[in-house]
Amino acid sequence: MSIKVTWYGHSAMGLEIDHTKILVDPYFTGNPAASTSADKVAAEFILVTHGHFDHVGDAAAIAKRTEATVISNFEIAEWMDKQGVKKTHGQHIGGAHGWPFGELKLTPAMHGSGLPDGTNGGNPAGFLLTTKDGKKIYIVGDTGLFSDMKLIGQQGIDLAFVPIGDNYTMGPDDAYTAVELIMPKHVIPVHYNTWELIAQDAEKWAARVRKLGVQVHVMKPGESLII
Ligand code: NI
Ligand code: MN
Repeated sequence: MSIKVTWYGHSAMGLEIDHTKILVDPYFTGNPAASTSADKVAAEFILVTHGHFDHVGDAAAIAKRTEATVISNFEIAEWMDKQGVKKTHGQHIGGAHGWPFGELKLTPAMHGSGLPDGTNGGNPAGFLLTTKDGKKIYIVGDTGLFSDMKLIGQQGIDLAFVPIGDNYTMGPDDAYTAVELIMPKHVIPVHYNTWELIAQDAEKWAARVRKLGVQVHVMKPGESLII
């Protein structure tokens, strides 16, 4: 079973697993790197890592239009309810739940999670997704480096999404160390070049990381690949 991955710029990505369409952190409106828009993109499930505007993004609007289920931590799921999203599901860090696309677990992230209107968005998270045929995707989320990434990596990660932008998240050096800890088969750098403040040379980073024997995919916004 193949997985189609589309990067929409920043931390927004699409995953198509066994014909199920999943959007992660769908920030399109106001995102200078966005390659699609909230009124066009398809979704059956929307995963939100944390409450910041550049991750919650258009999640509520897309969910209302598509009737997608929004999955996030408990606090953000409740907030989505209040935005009028019909199908929401709260999990929390360490907790896994079975979905039509596989098993989804929330993982720790060192970051903030305040929602755009000031509501407490709980603790920020990453996602560990295990497909029904056992492929593992680790969406690290907005975070600094932490050594438990190694424990997650020990499970055997096929694909990891790692922020490299610096300032708000890991920069290139810590992201390199994160890849060393996780040792995924494939890695896609995210959360960079959206704004000048997080501008990075992803190709330079990729060249270093490839020496670890990891396949690095530097994607252009809107580009897809099949893993
Ligand atoms: Ni953030
Ligand atoms: Mn962010």
